[in-house]
Amino acid sequence: MIILSLETSCDETACAILEEKNGAFSVLANIVSSQIALHAKWGGVVPNLAAREHLKNIILVIDEALKKSRLTSKDINLIAVTNGPGLIPALLIGVETAKTLSYLWKKPLIGIHHIEGHIYANFISDKISVESKVKSQKSKETKINFPILCLVVSGGHTQLVLMKKHLSYEIIGETQDDAVGEAFDKVARILGLGYPGGPAVAKEAVGVKKYKLEAPLPRPMIKSDNFNFSFSGLKTAVLYLVKKNEKLLKNNDFVSAVCQEFQQAVCDVLISKTMRAAKKYNPKTIMLAGGVSANTELRKQLGASVQDELLNALYMIPNISYSVDNAAMIAIAASFRYKLKKNTRKLKNNWEDLETNANLKLN
Ligand code: KG4
Ligand code: ZN
Repeated sequence: MIILSLETSCDETACAILEEKNGAFSVLANIVSSQIALHAKWGGVVPNLAAREHLKNIILVIDEALKKSRLTSKDINLIAVTNGPGLIPALLIGVETAKTLSYLWKKPLIGIHHIEGHIYANFISDKISVESKVKSQKSKETKINFPILCLVVSGGHTQLVLMKKHLSYEIIGETQDDAVGEAFDKVARILGLGYPGGPAVAKEAVGVKKYKLEAPLPRPMIKSDNFNFSFSGLKTAVLYLVKKNEKLLKNNDFVSAVCQEFQQAVCDVLISKTMRAAKKYNPKTIMLAGGVSANTELRKQLGASVQDELLNALYMIPNISYSVDNAAMIAIAASFRYKLKKNTRKLKNNWEDLETNANLKLN
């Protein structure tokens, strides 16, 4: 089965082609056209500019994906598209293009929740992804088994999701204010590091601390008796620290020390809550998902905690190319939905039924 997928929920115009054969997946093409340069000067994503850019690029990325995989429309069996959540003007470009292709090519169409895509990126079993799986795990387990506990960390979401079976999600905790990615982006802006902030903060945080901060940053809600998060206070703590030491912004050692401490505070909270949830729910697999899963420290430190404390759990992280927004993750989620026939009762001429929803819920 060959799936062509589109993703335009934020600032990447993406098209992928995925082949599924006897339960094994190969990504035949994974094309992402990034708008980072365009939005960087505004310090964040401008929805209408994003939509205009998606419109310019969507046909180009589809063409490129078909060319790369040496396929034509006739070879495609299913079309998948992110239909929420995200920025409406941006989402609509992907959804309307997918509907048009579905109508013209007479192929079934499946709408996918963006976060479901991020979670299922962990199931891509192609060559690059398998190599990225954490080596030297103590756990003998190599297969993904349920229940899965997934830490979802992106620009718009921070959630602990429990999956007892495929396509079934129980949100056991989530952020009460900012998402982790959003906090990274805001801290980068406060420190003058540009957009997107996550990779910029992570880069500054590398190396030995040469500047000692007066006091550690807070670890919000780390001791709270639930699995929720809060990152807005941490971001404000960085703002106050910088305001108090404005002249030090020119000192690279100070900026590096703030980035390192901020990143560590984020890792401490995320990991401590994930481990606590793991002890309550006894998952067989721990997964990381969403754009912030590209963060090297988070990948490493969560892996180390799982190794130390959860001897029988498998630890999964998506390959970096499937961590940040891409369309391969949408295709693989669609493959599972198609196979399990979840929300896909009518798959003939169904392009009319697909709705775009900025606040789509995960279910
Ligand atoms: O999943 P994603 O690509 O888009 C959304 O669904 O939001 O996540 C984007 C977020 C941004 O906030 C970006 O700063 C963050 O992921 N991010 C990172 C890293 N790479 C991307 N945060 C920390 N460290 C990184 N290496
Ligand atoms: Zn995303």
